[in-house]
Amino acid sequence: MVTRPLELHGMLMAHWEPTQMEGEINDAIVVQGEIPESLNGTLFRQGMNPRYRGLSETYLPVTSDGMVHAMRLENGKAYYKNRWVRTPRFLLEDKYGQACFEYEGGNIPNPLFDGFGFPVVDKPETRDTPSGTANITAWTHGRRLFALGEQTIPMEVDPRSLDTLGVPAWGSELPPGVLVKASPEDGGVCAHPKNCPVTGEIFWFTASIEAPHIVIGSYDPATGAKRRIPLDLPYMFYPHDWLVTRDHIILPLFPVHLRPENPSQGKCPKVWSPELGTRIAVVPRDGGEILWFNTWEEGTRFSFHPQAAYDRDGHIIAHVPEYNTFPHPAEGGEGNWETKYPDANLYEWDLDLATRSIKVTKLDDRSIEFPWTDQRFYGLEYRYGFSAVASRDAGPALAFDSVQTYDLKTNTYVMQDFGAGNVVMEPIFVPRSPDAPEGDGYLLTYLWHADTNRSDFVILDAQAVDQEPVAVVRLPMRVPLAPHGSWMAAE
Ligand SMILES: [Fe+2]
Repeated sequence: MVTRPLELHGMLMAHWEPTQMEGEINDAIVVQGEIPESLNGTLFRQGMNPRYRGLSETYLPVTSDGMVHAMRLENGKAYYKNRWVRTPRFLLEDKYGQACFEYEGGNIPNPLFDGFGFPVVDKPETRDTPSGTANITAWTHGRRLFALGEQTIPMEVDPRSLDTLGVPAWGSELPPGVLVKASPEDGGVCAHPKNCPVTGEIFWFTASIEAPHIVIGSYDPATGAKRRIPLDLPYMFYPHDWLVTRDHIILPLFPVHLRPENPSQGKCPKVWSPELGTRIAVVPRDGGEILWFNTWEEGTRFSFHPQAAYDRDGHIIAHVPEYNTFPHPAEGGEGNWETKYPDANLYEWDLDLATRSIKVTKLDDRSIEFPWTDQRFYGLEYRYGFSAVASRDAGPALAFDSVQTYDLKTNTYVMQDFGAGNVVMEPIFVPRSPDAPEGDGYLLTYLWHADTNRSDFVILDAQAVDQEPVAVVRLPMRVPLAPHGSWMAAE
């Protein structure tokens, strides 16, 4: 096998640059303010962090190893730890001491492809090992932590030691995902499962190149009840995130057509196809008929991360940051995330379940991503959204420099602009106390500084985001941008 050097890919540089080391920092230095004594728990984040140089000429971030970053706050002190997730693939490559997996189309001369939908090249050494990586989301449910990739097997991780515990029992029950083909056990789950705060149920979906292309699943840990809902689509879409309310599951299918046969023809498997329109599946949680909404008149857009939604008098109200096009490179698309990441603006969708019509209202002109809400109210009528904001030209991929709290009741926001050359991650909200009002609490994020190539961990007051941070924890190194995280309160 030949190992090739990593090229200067936008997601191997600056705030994305992977770290080659695992370690821990105990009692990290607080350089500003104080960590509230009552803020006890751990913020987990999951990121793309290749351990070995790949076999392909093109770096495909979605297929890279995943690393979990944990910042534990305990009695006013901060403890950081990072570990790669030991997927079956990681362990195989560890044995060989180099990358083993290779992707069809991995040598297409476009350094910007993200790797989603590229089939694994069939080789004897990798044939029996799941190809899945765990590099997108650190997801918690109760006291359990899962590291998730995009449509690949879930991995359970010990929340204290960050030791990889393995594929959870429910992982083997998942349908095959998009990046299958390395092994029969290569099941897949989305990177954005949802926890219902009312019932405790878990919701997930799997996207597959095989019909039915989407399978929605739910699991109720209290009763053991499981449900599977196939969405038999005429063609395969590229889905990423979705919405769950108290009564409905809402899966938007934006017009990114997935053609896994494309890489063998030298083309990206994702095809931006606005003529297909956007389809939205609304699935009643009580088992009623699936309602389909079709594209709205103002034009077709794309969203990676809908913020949240709720039911109100026969309507579903959703808040969705939308791009005017698909921001990543795709056949037929204009996305180029290395030179200028397009803006996503906050829209409100009003879905009328009786007439199956949709009214769309633009709420804000600023560029936002990584929306989050007070998870105690997820799927219920809510007021506050939290997100990263690009206050100036973000340049290369996802370089957001600001954090905000957006008040949907007054359509106003409070924002902290950290200035040029500083990059934030998705801000995670933590309530001030278990019974604090919605939105009363803290926003937690990492802040990367270009001038020192180092990160801080920042705690902001969610209702006074524009004020001096509650606390800044100084780290001696960079924490690479890790797309999604979650908070687990201490017991
Ligand atoms: Fe995501």
